[in-house]
Amino acid sequence: MKQSIIRGTGKGIAPVLVTNHDLEKIMDTSDEWIRQRTGIEQRYWIPEDEEIGSSDLGFIAAEQALKNAGWQASDLDFIIFATLSPDIMFPGSGCLMAAKLGLDSTPALDIRQQCTGFLYGLTTADAYIKTGIANKILLVGAEIHSSGLDKTTRGRDVTVIFGDAGAAVCIEGVETDENVGLLSSALHADGNYAHALTAELPASRLPQRMPPDVAIDDPRYFPVMDGPAIFKKALRLLPKVTQEAFEKANVTVDDIDLIIPHQANMRINQGLGQYLKVDDSKVFHNIQKYGNTTAASIPLALHEAMEEGLVGKKGDTVYFVALGAGLTWGGIVYRFG
Ligand code: ACO
Repeated sequence: MKQSIIRGTGKGIAPVLVTNHDLEKIMDTSDEWIRQRTGIEQRYWIPEDEEIGSSDLGFIAAEQALKNAGWQASDLDFIIFATLSPDIMFPGSGCLMAAKLGLDSTPALDIRQQCTGFLYGLTTADAYIKTGIANKILLVGAEIHSSGLDKTTRGRDVTVIFGDAGAAVCIEGVETDENVGLLSSALHADGNYAHALTAELPASRLPQRMPPDVAIDDPRYFPVMDGPAIFKKALRLLPKVTQEAFEKANVTVDDIDLIIPHQANMRINQGLGQYLKVDDSKVFHNIQKYGNTTAASIPLALHEAMEEGLVGKKGDTVYFVALGAGLTWGGIVYRFG
């Protein structure tokens, strides 16, 4: 049976460092509020006067992941690109990034699963590998949030949280009898809570997607979030999906070397750690440095955890877990092969 093995990882971070103190200068917020509520100290945004898309940060991450895997772009037989902030309305960022990699016929699929994008992407890659559709897959998560945020006090609850980044993993199908690769995947979605975290405009369901006199002050162009509702959902659903993913993989928390959660809020992840009764050191955090980079967040955390030597050796077992807009949520147990 073929198993999906991660061969290389990479990251591409936006160039402009924005600290909490920088945000204090443009809106009514404070370093103390942001740190206490979220754990975030800084994030990176693209420059306001340059056109940089998700495919650009994804491309930087992809080049590094390919190099770390020892692959050429031409070795790829499938690309999956997870983003809620595609470069343009269409075509998808996967196609744009593939062209930057010098490819002209490799299939490229965009997925729109927000903070759970990496989990949906990894599960899709695993299914493609197991069914023989592809064998060397590049999975990218990348977001440019900053160009779509309301940088006034009105948008402070959302704007302080998000950062721009890309991250990538190369996944290869390997014939083996060993219990390695994706040991389980548990995915969910509940569109009844779509309104709890959404950017409504532009919307193709409207008679006119972009009105001729685009009112850029219309708050529906900016993401809105019912933070407390999502926070409560996360505290309830993440333990539940964790139990489901562990049962499917036939593992217990003692089998997990490192929990690599989506970086939305340090308190949410610490809450999951407490529920699982694990030491803080077993839950990986880099939200302090990057904020919430949505689809990039888990592969970015994985890349840094591997760089720090925390995981990556054959047999190391990690648990990826996320909840985000959709709502979507899920958990994946992965063992390095
Ligand atoms: N600076 C200062 N004050 C602020 C800020 C800010 N940036 N933002 C909000 N406030 C104020 C509010 O106005 C409110 O004031 P009031 O009490 O006078 O009304 C007060 O702070 C408390 O606001 P809450 O929204 O209740 O704050 P909470 O403790 O819930 O923290 C947070 C907000 C950090 C957003 C939290 O709710 C959270 O992390 N929720 C989950 C987010 C999440 O996981 N999202 C999913 C992933 S993202 C994705 O999928 C794209």
